Amino acid sequence: MSLWNKIIDWLERRISLNEFISFITSFGIFYTHIPPDKPVKEAIKDAMETISPSYARWPYMLGIITFLLFLIQVVTGVLLLFFYVPSIDKAYESTVTIIRDRPFGFFIFNIHHWTAILLICVVLFRLGRFIYDKVFSPPREIFWILGFLIFIFVILEYITGIPLPMDAQAGWLSYRIFEIFNPAPFLGVLNRVLFGAIKFGDVFILRNYILHVFVFPLVVFFLFYIHFLSVRKVGLSYGKMSLKSPFPGYFFEILITIFITFGVVFTLATLFPRAIFQEFVPYKNYTQFKVPFFLLFFDFLRDKLPLTLYSIIFTLFIILPFFLPWIDRSAPVPLIKKPVAFILYFGGLLIIIVISVMGLRV
Ligand code: HEM
Repeated sequence: MSLWNKIIDWLERRISLNEFISFITSFGIFYTHIPPDKPVKEAIKDAMETISPSYARWPYMLGIITFLLFLIQVVTGVLLLFFYVPSIDKAYESTVTIIRDRPFGFFIFNIHHWTAILLICVVLFRLGRFIYDKVFSPPREIFWILGFLIFIFVILEYITGIPLPMDAQAGWLSYRIFEIFNPAPFLGVLNRVLFGAIKFGDVFILRNYILHVFVFPLVVFFLFYIHFLSVRKVGLSYGKMSLKSPFPGYFFEILITIFITFGVVFTLATLFPRAIFQEFVPYKNYTQFKVPFFLLFFDFLRDKLPLTLYSIIFTLFIILPFFLPWIDRSAPVPLIKKPVAFILYFGGLLIIIVISVMGLRV
């Protein structure tokens, strides 16, 4: 018996390896179930040979890319934590030191910056694809609800990350985001409980920091886990599926997907690094900054609408999507085959895009 097999046998007599493998495979390594009572080597061999849908293929790859980008955030975030100091006096200085003086600091900071933007784009795109293919009709309501929850928590991750560098852009954006979120019922209260009136001090940085590096990542991780469990239970949505065994079948497709994702992130981080401005000075009038693209819509409405109307619209945008599976009970076929639904959804999307572009020009 090889040394490797001896180690596995030794471990198997002491740890429930199957459950561990089953937990890991829930994150997308194999699609198949790992029975808890089989010896682990046999269970893995069976899983490797089971023909299952390759979810490294379009459109299922969006799920893998989302999770991969999240992992990149965790790894680069932890590396940043080694040098970042969460206090109002040191945040800016430590960020500049990371970027200028630490080995690969510039690169890690910018990978974190670009992955955050890509993550939001991919999550949004995935929600769009769920709507297009109606991946929320029974029994996949949970796919949609979890997809939307992941979207909300990724946004929360983004906006709690924004103040951390404490340069002029970070400070101005924190203030503006506070103004955008504050009027909304429930969310506004939550906003005030979590951050207090926006007063730039140690407590403000520390609260954002704890939520950003600890609380929200755990929530996102948990949501991914439940989502994968749900995919295992009810299966991938309908569509053209390429059926293969995990290894060598779609293993290489997953590798290629990972390779391309890394390529895109590294290229953007190298070619378009985030500019670091002077240290933020409260109450100074900054006019050169804009909110991130996914907040432009609310940024525009916040300025143009009376506060009550704005609060109602904001709340509806957060609450209504959760009920989509029960609001839209039309047949589960691609949107292109349903002209009325197509016009309604795309009309809505177009309005959001036009208002966002108007926000960009204000
Ligand atoms: C969905 C996941 C995440 C998103 C969307 C995200 C987003 C961001 C953003 C937008 C910034 C501000 C920097 C910039 O303007 O680009 C930031 C900074 C930071 N993030 Fe994250 N992040 C995520 C996960 C994490 C995790 C898991 C950790 C740590 C465990 C982390 C640690 C940090 C640190 C330390 C900074 C401050 C960097 C500095 O100013 O030097 N992030 N993040």
